[in-house]
Amino acid sequence: MITPNEPTVSPPVSLDLDLIRKHSIPGPRYTSYPPATQFVAAPDCREIDAAVDEDNRAGAGPISLYFHLPFCETRCWFCGCTTVITKRRLAAGDYLDDLAREMRLTAERMDTSRPVTQIHFGGGTPTFFPPDELRRLGALIREIFPNRETDCEFSVEIDPRRLTLEHVEALAAIGAHRASLGVQDTNPAVQLAIHRHQPHSLNERAFAWLRAHGFRSINVDLIFGLPLQTRDSFAHTVDDVLGLAPDRLSVFSYAHVPWIKPAQKIFDDRAQLPDAEQKLSMFAVAHEKLTAAGYLDIGLDHFAKPEDELAVALREGTLHRNFQGYSTRGGAALYSFGVSSISSTGDSYRQNLKTLPEWRAALAAGRLPTERGLRLSDEDLRRREIIMRLMCDRRLDFAALSRALRVDFRTRYAAELASLADLEADGIVVRTPDSVRVTPLGTPLLRVVAMRFDPHVTAGALQHSRTI
Ligand SMILES: C[S@@+](CC[C@H](N)C(=O)[O-])C[C@H]1O[C@@H](n2cnc3c(N)ncnc32)[C@H](O)[C@@H]1O
Ligand code: SF4
Repeated sequence: MITPNEPTVSPPVSLDLDLIRKHSIPGPRYTSYPPATQFVAAPDCREIDAAVDEDNRAGAGPISLYFHLPFCETRCWFCGCTTVITKRRLAAGDYLDDLAREMRLTAERMDTSRPVTQIHFGGGTPTFFPPDELRRLGALIREIFPNRETDCEFSVEIDPRRLTLEHVEALAAIGAHRASLGVQDTNPAVQLAIHRHQPHSLNERAFAWLRAHGFRSINVDLIFGLPLQTRDSFAHTVDDVLGLAPDRLSVFSYAHVPWIKPAQKIFDDRAQLPDAEQKLSMFAVAHEKLTAAGYLDIGLDHFAKPEDELAVALREGTLHRNFQGYSTRGGAALYSFGVSSISSTGDSYRQNLKTLPEWRAALAAGRLPTERGLRLSDEDLRRREIIMRLMCDRRLDFAALSRALRVDFRTRYAAELASLADLEADGIVVRTPDSVRVTPLGTPLLRVVAMRFDPHVTAGALQHSRTI
C-alpha cells in the first residue's frame, strides 16, 4: 500500500535529452509557492504583526532562522544573489549591529523559547565577516533564541577564496556543522571570464579544514551555462569536484537575467555564453558522471550520496523544500534577518527591503524592515501543498491530498489533471485512478509538472530561468 508521503525513488536512468528539449520551458524553481515574484508591495504593519502573532499562539512549534550576510569583496559577473560589494571590512560590524536590532524587534513580537531546529547563514559571503564578528553573531543568536534543539541543523555558505582556518574555528565554535561551498567551475579560462579566480587548491584546503572541524554533509555549488564552458570543460570540473568527495552537489543552470543583474550584460557583449544545446550537453555529462559515481538525483539541481540525510529523506518520504532548496527539516516557521531575506510563517511570506540604506533606515526608525509579502488564500495554501508534494515526493496521492486539503482532490483539480495528458503521452508522468506519479525520466522536468498546478504561470513566469 502506498502511504501518503511515500515518494518514488527509482534506480538512476539516463536522461532523455529530446524529452527535455521538448518540454523545458522557463518557470519557477518552487522554493516557495507562490514564488517570490508574486509578492506584493508593503503589507501594512498590522498585517505583519497579525501574521507573527498568529504564528506565536500557544503551543507554537519549532523555528528555523536564516541570516542574510550580503557582503562580497569582488563581484562575480554571473551572480544573481542580493549582494553588497565592498572591501571595507568594518561594514560587517555595522551590519551586525543592525541585525541585532532586527532580531530584538522581531523577538519582542514572538515566543523566543520556541525550539530552534535549523540555522542558516547565506549570502553574499558569510565569511566576509571576520571570525570575531561570526562569534558575535553566534552569541547573539544564543542569547535571543536560547532554546536550540540538540540536533539543530546549522549550515553556512562558504566561498573558499574568502576562508581562513580561523573562520572555520569560529564557525565550529558557534555550532555550525554543515557547509555549502561555491565552486562554480574549476577551469581557469572560465574563471577569468566570470571574474572569479579560484585555484582548485583553495577548494581542497577548505574541504580539509571543514572535515577536520567536524563539518558533515558538505555541499558544492556548480553552475553550467557560464561563458566559455563546453561539455568537455564542464566534465573536467565535475571530475575535479568528485575528487573532493562532497556529500551533496547543487548543479545550477546559469540564470541569465541581465535586466535584473546588469553585470551579466558583459557576457552578451562578449558573446561568450554557450547556447541551449551546449548547456543541455553540460547538464547531461554532469548527470552521467554524478550518477555513475553513485550520487542520487534528488530532483532539480540537487545530487547527494545515498547515505546522506537528503537521500535518506527522499527514500523515506520526508523531504522538504524551502528557500535554500531541498531540506530534511520541515514544518518549522522560518524567521529571516538581513537585507532581502524572506520569512515564512503560517499562511504568510514577508520579504525585507533589498537595499542596505532602506533596510537600515527602517530599523533605525524602530520598524520591521518589510518591503513585500503575501498572505496566502485558502486556494494558495492548497496549491502550495500540491506543488510541494510533487517537488518532494514526485507523486500526488489523491486520497491523501483530499484529506489534507479537505476537498475532493480529483474533482476540484480535474482540469489540471486533464492538462497532464501530453506529459503522460511522453512518459513524464503516469496517471492512475488514484494518483499521479512523475517517472524517473520525467524527474528533470519536475517543475514543468508542478507548473500545471500553478495558475500564476503566465507571461510573468518568463522572467524565470529555463528548467535546464
Ligand atoms: C551566495 S552564493 C554561495 C556563497 C559564496 N558567495 C560563493 O559564491 O562562493 C550562492 C550560489 O548561488 C549560485 N548562483 C549565483 N548566481 C547564479 C546564477 N546567476 N545562476 C545560477 N546560480 C547562481 C552559485 O552557485 C552560488 O554558489
Ligand atoms: S557568487 Fe558568491 S562571491 Fe560571487 S558575487 Fe555572488 S554571492 Fe558574492
